[in-house]
Amino acid sequence: METEELLKSLEEEANLAIDNASQVQEVNEAKAQFLGKKSKLNALMATMRDLSAEGRKELGEKINSFKTALENKVREKIQALEDAKINAMLASQEIDVTLPGKQIMDGNLHPLTKIYSEIEEICSSMGFKVADGPEVECDLYNFEMLNLPKGHPAREMQDSYYITENMLLRTQTSPVQIRTLLAAKGEPVKIICPGKVYRRDNDDATHSHQFMQCEGLVVGPNVTMADLKGTLQTIFRKLFGEDVKVRFRPSFFPFTEPSVEVDFSCFKCHGEGCPLCKQNGWIEVLGAGMVHPNVLKMAGYDPEKMQGFAFGIGIERIAMLKYGIDDIRNFYNDDVRFLKQF
Ligand code: DAH
Repeated sequence: METEELLKSLEEEANLAIDNASQVQEVNEAKAQFLGKKSKLNALMATMRDLSAEGRKELGEKINSFKTALENKVREKIQALEDAKINAMLASQEIDVTLPGKQIMDGNLHPLTKIYSEIEEICSSMGFKVADGPEVECDLYNFEMLNLPKGHPAREMQDSYYITENMLLRTQTSPVQIRTLLAAKGEPVKIICPGKVYRRDNDDATHSHQFMQCEGLVVGPNVTMADLKGTLQTIFRKLFGEDVKVRFRPSFFPFTEPSVEVDFSCFKCHGEGCPLCKQNGWIEVLGAGMVHPNVLKMAGYDPEKMQGFAFGIGIERIAMLKYGIDDIRNFYNDDVRFLKQF
């Protein structure tokens, strides 16, 4: 066969083999077959020895251009196969950006946190500052300066966890009243203070040795019981609904005079009587009263010039009413099934 024809048929054969290859490996095999040591091309090159210088040059050029063309084709084919592989992979792994994302589990506030945050928000809007106090308190502030001297019988129902003879876990948030008054040095005050309190108590569905209260204290010239009622009414209407009514019943607390037990009209039955209010129409929620003159005097205030009211709300009680929870222990068990409902 003429050299030229041989090259032409080799070229056709090689092109066909490369065109038909569907894997990179097949392309490389074709390359070895047509350009490698045992290829027909190599055999052809061996015949160059017998040619004249001119014939050698001519054949050499033809072989070179055959080689270059084939090498280019091999490179292009390999590139095309690799591109196709990547494209197929991309097509199979296509991301649909319109699909809904994976939902991230975000936590939620504890029901007690929700209640006192709500009270904080309501009271802040009425000009109250939020105060804080320590949970380990001295007897002086927790009892004595609240008009509960040592040996006072009313201490009994609140006797707590003493750390030393004069230090205890606070039994109420009321000592924050004393701390606030002492710091204000005779100036008017208007604060609330949510926080934990501790009592020696038998734990059951409605009692716990640790629970939360929110104290309120307003002291200034001409503060009256009407202000107390209006303030509590505003808080409870915001918490439970605009038609809620507030009722005072006489009571006793050593640090207030007069003292009241505060009820609000049942937000479920609107006063008709239902299981929530025990057919009463009213729900008892907190203690309050006008700050006792002795308390004002001990804290450096002149009761003739300034008066005040105070209240103490049980946070758990409000949360239990608002969310319909019947066992106080649910708040402290950290059971996610319970907590995630709020
Ligand atoms: N500290 C009282 C208690 O724990 C609640 C209380 C009643 C607070 C009357 C007050 C108040 O500020 O005026 O039982």
